[in-house]
Amino acid sequence: MKPLIAPSILSADFGRLADEVGAAARAGADLIHVDVMDGHFVPNLTIGPPVVRAIRRATELPLDVHLMIEEPERSVEDFVKAGASTITVHAEACRHLHGILQRIRALGVRASVALNPATPLEAVRHVLGDLDMVLLMTVNPGFGGQAFIRSVLPKIRALRDLAPALDIEVDGGIKTDNVDQVVAAGANVIVSGSGIFETPDYAATIAAMRRRAAGAD
Ligand code: DX5
Ligand code: ZN
Repeated sequence: MKPLIAPSILSADFGRLADEVGAAARAGADLIHVDVMDGHFVPNLTIGPPVVRAIRRATELPLDVHLMIEEPERSVEDFVKAGASTITVHAEACRHLHGILQRIRALGVRASVALNPATPLEAVRHVLGDLDMVLLMTVNPGFGGQAFIRSVLPKIRALRDLAPALDIEVDGGIKTDNVDQVVAAGANVIVSGSGIFETPDYAATIAAMRRRAAGAD
């Protein structure tokens, strides 16, 4: 599986968001990862549907919307209307996980479930037929720029064994120097925030990540 690179705009300059999204697209991004935080599920507070709509106007790339919010069933429709291509909800935040996945798919977008580092794969085992992607957090959600949690690697491997054709996304602390480890474990959708936006040349960084992921470096 050819890895897809999804820059997380959480580490972009929010004052120049449209330019930053455009720059990531020109630099070779495959998706734009959008982190939505509600100040409850995670301590941080970020953006809502109006900003997603603005990002939608700034690029043609798919928008990979990661909802770190309580009761996501209350707002998935607003995020779909705003232009999301994939909606990820956290298993830890959903009382009726199967129901919300059905609802997301019925709205015409890809459905995905995120698991925090301490949440076992068992939380998604019985909904694997009802989703398009699983996001394995490689930091505790809430902030960009945290250190990669290595102990998630065996979980990535176990999920790949369980679901050979599934899109497995990893998110948190991924940079050029460790992207090969998550890809070798079985991840194929790579989120990187500070690992891209805090480097001077986004295109050079994304190219280096692809080479490293391919085992070329
Ligand atoms: C963390 C977010 C991530 C974050 C990744 O809660 O879900 O998407 O922006 O940022 P880095 O790559 O800097 O860890
Ligand atoms: Zn994220």
